Amino acid sequence: MDYPSLLSIAVLVMPVFIKKYVCQKHTCGCSMANGADFFAQIRDMLAGSKRVVFLTGAGISKESGIPTFRGNDGLWKSYDPVKLASLSAFLENPSLVWEFYSYRQRLIRKCRPNPAHVAISRIEDQKKGDGCWVLTQNVDGLHRCAGSKNIVELHGNIFKAKCIQCGFYGDMDMDMGVDAAAAAALPPKCPNCGSVLKPGVVLFEEALPQKEWAKAIGIASSCDLMLIVGTSLNVSPANALPFCAKDNKAVLVEVNPEETWLSRSMDFTLKGSAADVLPRIVTY
Ligand SMILES: NC(=O)c1ccc[n+]([C@@H]2O[C@H](COP(=O)([O-])OP(=O)(O)OC[C@H]3O[C@@H](n4cnc5c(N)ncnc54)[C@H](O)[C@@H]3O)[C@@H](O)[C@H]2O)c1
Ligand SMILES: [Zn+2]
Repeated sequence: MDYPSLLSIAVLVMPVFIKKYVCQKHTCGCSMANGADFFAQIRDMLAGSKRVVFLTGAGISKESGIPTFRGNDGLWKSYDPVKLASLSAFLENPSLVWEFYSYRQRLIRKCRPNPAHVAISRIEDQKKGDGCWVLTQNVDGLHRCAGSKNIVELHGNIFKAKCIQCGFYGDMDMDMGVDAAAAAALPPKCPNCGSVLKPGVVLFEEALPQKEWAKAIGIASSCDLMLIVGTSLNVSPANALPFCAKDNKAVLVEVNPEETWLSRSMDFTLKGSAADVLPRIVTY
């Protein structure tokens, strides 16, 4: 068989081998090509970057056992979590929303960081100082459990509660069942002023905490590499952060098994699960 025929077979067969980690060639003109060792090239980019940012979402915690809101396993008692996790749902029925959050607390308390969280923490260790940041939409605290320290929790933390009257913000690990007595105690009251407490997470229809948001914009705008992991980028304003990074000419790398509405604007897309892909970009 002549050389051109072999080449055409190789070209036909190659996508089968690389399907799992399709790395699209995008806007930055970088020379990463199909069939190359994507992971080695991402490792090089990581080593050369002055500041790397991981923008993470529910998908990174999926393999820790925490369902995303939008997946098939997302429903709770036939309620749509996206509707339940809203300010209007909370104002209408705070006890129901607290019941949902106490269920989520119980679910999350059992979960442990997966290799994706651990890989990010390892990269932070290697970059030292403030060379690596996690901007997370997750409320599960798993990045901290994995050892990351430079974290901005854009949407708060599920083990906290907030008072809308006096501003109290404190720990709230309910560890409660859904028996009648526990349900009757809902919603919890503020220890300072006695008002109804709100879960310490940013609900849909609520603004992000100013301090965290300003910090996130500053960090995203000063990075030269952003990895966007496990987020559909459907939630605003967190989905504006890749644009801040792009304004600073950062390289954008998406890690997601599915295409998102911004996939085609990324410099690179690694199609795969976070727990599989991220450990491959760490140099141990
Ligand atoms: N773990 C959590 O803390 C948690 C869980 C559910 C929802 N939320 C909240 O709900 C909102 C949802 O927005 P979002 O964009 O974070 O999530 P989303 O549910 O909108 O999107 C999840 C994304 O993860 C991808 N994904 C699924 N499995 C994956 C895997 N194994 N590896 C990598 N990616 C994977 C999906 O393709 C999807 O694009 C956020 O505001 C978040 O605070 C948080
Ligand atoms: Zn109060």
